[in-house]
Order: sequence, then structure tokens, then C-alpha cells
Amino acid sequence: MNPRQIIEKKRDGLELTGEEIKYIIDEYVCGSLADYQMAALLMAIYLRGMTFDETAWLTNAMIESGERIDLTAIPGPKVDKHSTGGVGDKVSIVLAPMVAAAGLNVPMISGRQLAHSGGTLDKLEAIPGFNTRLTVPVFKQNLAQIGAALIGQTDTIVPADKKIYALRDATSTVKSLPLVTASIMSKKIAEGIDSLVLDVKTGRGAFFNCYAEAKQLAEYLIAIGEHNGVKTVALVTSMDEPLGYTVGNWLETKEAIACLKNQGPADLMQITYSLGALMLMLANKIERIEEGIHLLKTCIASGAAFDKFLEIVRLQGGETRVIHNPELYPDEAHSLAVKSDRDGYIARVDALGIGQLAMSLGAGRIKKEDAIDYTAGIILQKKHGDRVQRGEILALLYARDRTKLAGKADECLRCFEMSTAKPPDSQLIYDILDKNGMMPWEKVVNGEG
Ligand code: URA
Repeated sequence: MNPRQIIEKKRDGLELTGEEIKYIIDEYVCGSLADYQMAALLMAIYLRGMTFDETAWLTNAMIESGERIDLTAIPGPKVDKHSTGGVGDKVSIVLAPMVAAAGLNVPMISGRQLAHSGGTLDKLEAIPGFNTRLTVPVFKQNLAQIGAALIGQTDTIVPADKKIYALRDATSTVKSLPLVTASIMSKKIAEGIDSLVLDVKTGRGAFFNCYAEAKQLAEYLIAIGEHNGVKTVALVTSMDEPLGYTVGNWLETKEAIACLKNQGPADLMQITYSLGALMLMLANKIERIEEGIHLLKTCIASGAAFDKFLEIVRLQGGETRVIHNPELYPDEAHSLAVKSDRDGYIARVDALGIGQLAMSLGAGRIKKEDAIDYTAGIILQKKHGDRVQRGEILALLYARDRTKLAGKADECLRCFEMSTAKPPDSQLIYDILDKNGMMPWEKVVNGEG
């Protein structure tokens, strides 16, 4: 087979065969296909799309680029959650220990920062010593011992996603339905789970801004999961504003620790409890969502979820000292307070703008070899619906490199959309989708679905 012909075929909008897709993925992973050729193919896929069959073949080729983890020897349900990418989304760090404390096994393969959207791995690695590169035997051992392990793609587990993920970020080919689907589902299927809950984001800070696109993404993800024997459901949720109050790696981990100590913000906890309750439902641990939310609230309030997080951090080599006491974290960042230039209400805090601003402060990589400043980021002081007076602080910006703060106050101010009247409440969770269709989430919570 000839890589140029395969690139040409996709460039011209034709359907690739399963063999062609497998060939190109294998060639790329073993180093025989250059980055520039894969970049050209990714751009062709971005522009031309892929059929459902091509997406399924791509997912399979990516899974087969490494090993598929066999967890059948570990008793009990194995359930995971994945988000399609957002700003301030630290849900996984709260959810994995919380759900493990409720009795499920959570084998989680996560991703890094992608464009303006943060990555769970980077947030976990902000904890000094935390190792996200466990070998498969250690991953399985930790899972069997404490019910949760959080790692990234490696040279042996979905190596194709590891390489393509970084290249997509560098070539602006992130927002592609088949590429997002294959990236997420290859990791999730390779990790050996029985069931999966997806948080499909829509709105300003999501990769798929409009609802119809997000719904289609959810349908693709569910179909690929079910086709591979993984029971898959999705919640479509709002990503118009950042989740919680923090954006940036250590700041987000610190907020996740607060959530585990029962001091989490309402929006973040609503999404976390809802996704967690769905995981319990898929594992047949509960019959009604309300029951699951109650159980999970108990896990947080009793400290069981926090203790589970400590176990995860300890087993993965992280310093538990900063988990017990986040104030001990080496904080070398300079800060800048951004103040309101008028009175009014916050109509919206633009998630995309805030995400991009946090990256520019050092919270993300511009080039794939860049080092991350774990302390860089933003703490919002005001969000949707809050009343603000002129001169009040809207946000605090942090960066270790002081020069990165220059000129950023105005940029931040532009992310705050103000109104003179109090804006109506915003909806956080829209619908639930599974292989049988779709239903408003509210109905499910009220026991009508
Ligand atoms: N999360 C992933 O793992 N991959 C994507 O492409 C987007 C979100």
C-alpha cells in the first residue's frame, strides 16, 4: 500500500477501507510514516469527515496498535467515564475515587491538554511525584487493590492515540467527529471496561459548540462502544462557562481536593454526582438515579472518597502531604487581580476565552515539547448570575513567569459578559442518550425515565 494514495483518497473525499486505515496507523506507530504525512491525512479527515464504518475501523486500528487490557480476573463491575473536553473540567479527579469508594472498579485512561481544554493527566501530574505512566501489570494490581487507577496512553496502551493526540493538537485538527470518537473510544475499549459514561460537552468552550453536533458525537461514541461490547451512555452537558471556579492544573486539582472534602461548588458537584450515579446504575448497584446521588453524597460526606483519593495518590507515587494540606504546595506564581469596570450582573463567563487565557499564562503547551507551569491559571471570583459592583474582583490570574501576566487583565475582562438585569438560570445537564434514544435528564432524575 502507498501512503500517498491513501492521503489522496481521503483528500478527494473517498471512503478508505479497513485495511488502508490499519496500514496507515501501524506505519505511523512504528515510525515508518512521517509526522507530515499523518498531519496531511488528519487534515483531510478533518475537512472530509469519515463514514461510521471508517470511524469504527480507525478506532479498532488504534486499539490494536497496543495491548487490550484484560480485567476479567478482577471481580466486580469495571466502569469508567470520559469527557469530550472542556474548561475547568476536573470531574474525573473527584469522580474516580468517589465511585471507587462506592464499590466500583474504575480503570481510567485519560488524556492531556488538547487545544484550550485541560487534561486530567496534566492535572494529576501537578501533584509532586504522581506517576501516570504505570505499566499494565501495576495498573491492574492497583485496580485490584483499591478499585481505581488513573493513567495515560503509553507506548504499549493505545500508542496510536498517544502520537496522534499530540499531532492533532499541533495541527488544529482536534474538532473532528471521527477523530474525537476514535481517540476516546480506543482508550476506553483498550482499558477493559464493561460500561462507560460519557460527558459530551456542548457550548462556547466545547469542541462541538452546537447542540446538534454534540448529539451526533454522542451517537457515534455510543454506537462504537456498544459495537465493542461496552455498555455506553452519554450525558450532553453545558460547557458555556468553566466548571467550578478554577482553570489551570494545580488550581484545578486543589479544587477537586476541596470537592472530595465536601466543599465543592454546586455546578461541578451536580455534574460529578450525575455521572457517578449513572456509573452505579450501569453497574446495577442502584435502580434510581436519586438513590445513586444519595449514596455518592454519603461517600463524600463520610470522607471515604477523600481517603480513596489518598490511596490512589500514595499507590501512584504522589505526595499525600499536599493532598492533606494544599497550602504546602510550592507556590511560586505571581498574581494579578482583574476588576470589573462597571456595575451589573454576570451574564456569562466565556469558557473558550478563559481556557485560551489560562493556556497563555503557562497552564498549557503551545508546542508539544513545552513544559507546563502547574501553578499557572485563573481563579474566577464571579460567575453566571452574580451581582457585581465596579471595582470588584472578577478573577485572579496566576503565572510563574511574570511577563505572561502583562496585558492579560483586558483579555480577561472581555471574557465576562455583563447585563444590567439578572440573567435567567442556566441549564447544566440537557439530555441523556443511550443505544435506544434520548431523553431529557430532568425526567430521569425525577424518576420518569
Ligand atoms: N478526549 C480525548 O481523549 N480525545 C479527544 O479527541 C477529545 C477529548
